[in-house]
Amino acid sequence: MALHKVGSVSGISDGEMQVVDAGGEEVLLLKTEGQVYAVAAICTHALGYLDQGDLEEFTVFCPLHEGSFDVRTGAALTLPCTEPLKTFPVKVEGDDIFVEA
Ligand code: FES
Repeated sequence: MALHKVGSVSGISDGEMQVVDAGGEEVLLLKTEGQVYAVAAICTHALGYLDQGDLEEFTVFCPLHEGSFDVRTGAALTLPCTEPLKTFPVKVEGDDIFVEA
């Protein structure tokens, strides 16, 4: 595990989702309610890219079959998703966002 610089706080708006590379891992970086979170970019049900879905407060909705996850814990909230999303620790230093992966 290592820290990877993946973006900047000023470069992501509240409610925005971005797919970033963190040491070879595809990570969904997002900001909601003023906090930055990092989870796996791809849904655990099939191959839905979550950045193409919707974000409502702390819930991300998959664009393919509308399963959802809590971005704080990765917990699967609605079917057909049952497996949790991988989550990644986020560290903010000044304007820089680092993800541990
Ligand atoms: Fe995400 Fe099916 S791929 S709910």
